[in-house]
Amino acid sequence: MNPIHELPVTTWNGPFGEPLRREAVDALENGEVLFLPNLAFALTGNEQPLLSPTLSDGKSKNISLSPNGRLKNTSSSQAQHEMMQAMMQRFAQGAVHLIEDLFPQYATRLERARTSYRPVEIAGRKASVLHDDTRLHIDAFPTRPMKRGRRILRLFSNVNPNGQPRVWHVGEPFPDMAAKILPKVSLPSRAKNLLLAASLTTRGVRSGYDSYMHGLHDQAKLDESYQANCPQIEFAFPPGCTWMCYTDQVMHAALSGQFVLEQTFHLDLDAMTFPERAPFNVLERLTGASLA
Ligand code: SIN
Ligand code: FE
Repeated sequence: MNPIHELPVTTWNGPFGEPLRREAVDALENGEVLFLPNLAFALTGNEQPLLSPTLSDGKSKNISLSPNGRLKNTSSSQAQHEMMQAMMQRFAQGAVHLIEDLFPQYATRLERARTSYRPVEIAGRKASVLHDDTRLHIDAFPTRPMKRGRRILRLFSNVNPNGQPRVWHVGEPFPDMAAKILPKVSLPSRAKNLLLAASLTTRGVRSGYDSYMHGLHDQAKLDESYQANCPQIEFAFPPGCTWMCYTDQVMHAALSGQFVLEQTFHLDLDAMTFPERAPFNVLERLTGASLA
């Protein structure tokens, strides 16, 4: 299976035709990466100084913009701060329009979460194994429980000005990965999850689903043999393109690249067109347990 699904989208706004919309939701919810080679996010001439790694505060890899407009983790001057905020806000608006028009069935259910700007080169960055995103993983938030299988949808645009692609590895389908890694994941512990919430490590109590998703994230990253031998492809996203996927479902790793914008969305499981393909339902089938 080729997990990269190319779509001929050239604008951030629709309307898009029904066959294209149907193709897009089928591939996205099937755990494919939608690749839009002809959809670029453009920085204006004035914004070119934002293409510098020194604008990140050095402690965090990403500059982030919360939905309420607050910018975090940047060391920029006041003028640059405002320019960054406006640029990221414009990207976020474009991302919202694209998702709403390409997936009209999501429109009323879409939560716009954080926007991030990633100006630091990935290759050679030091990280512990569990924080090392050059290893294949699914995304699972450390502090935010997703309870009954709430989804993580992420959209990326490569804005690199030097011709450098963002290189990803994309692994096998979620059910195949889960069948291999689940035996290494410990059973969810309600007591442990209550303790994590009481100590404010998590905002709210993790469900069985959250426990399994964290377990899969950690055990896949820790498994050297899985990392080396599992089915995977390498794909280079060139500058001037956009791509998106459910990162809680797609096994992915970012190997190299610099200057990418990313928008996160959340959606309830029942907003899915094909809920049976979502990790929550796959895990309930594989474990035979009720995970909400
Ligand atoms: C990740 O989600 O693991 C990183 C993706 C990227 O920054 O390209
Ligand atoms: Fe990730």
